[in-house]
Amino acid sequence: MNPSGPLRKEHRLIEKLLTLIYHETLLMKKQKRVNPVFIDTAVDFIKIYADRTHHGKEEQILFETLKERKLKEEDRLMMEELIKDHVTARQITEQLFEYKNKYVLGDHDYLQRIVEKMDELGSIYPAHIWKEENSFFPAALTYLNESEQQDMIGQFWDFDKNMIHIKYTQVITRLKETSQADTGEYGY
Ligand SMILES: [Fe+2]
Ligand SMILES: [Fe+2]
Repeated sequence: MNPSGPLRKEHRLIEKLLTLIYHETLLMKKQKRVNPVFIDTAVDFIKIYADRTHHGKEEQILFETLKERKLKEEDRLMMEELIKDHVTARQITEQLFEYKNKYVLGDHDYLQRIVEKMDELGSIYPAHIWKEENSFFPAALTYLNESEQQDMIGQFWDFDKNMIHIKYTQVITRLKETSQADTGEYGY
């Protein structure tokens, strides 16, 4: 296995989310109402899995390693474009979450904006995944020898190991913020 293997596998799960988002958006358009729980869960998936875990490995391990190599101009430009896509996806996700909150507070005019953000996610990710799998990953591997590739897979596993702890530390923070009890007295 080369380092693109785990990343491609993660893409397959992200695509499942995109299919769910596609069908949920069709339903939202038809029923003219939003399912906030769906959006909360989708945003959580994107933030923790697609962004921190998946983009995290790409940016902090793969791209970071490649920045130390002498890349061909076309490969360097492609890497910059991929980083910009990650930033755009992050912004769309934040906006989606913000608009969903406004909708929940009673401003139903946000339905259209929520639909637009869902559609944007559904269009940016497939194109991004296609660029990585068909163009960037094959090019990236040419800059890494066999032992560097195996070392990178090890770094990916180490990176993933921390994610469950990061995720559930966030859950505790969120519970603390939303709890109606006085959590201070329990030493938090
Ligand atoms: Fe990416
Ligand atoms: Fe990716």
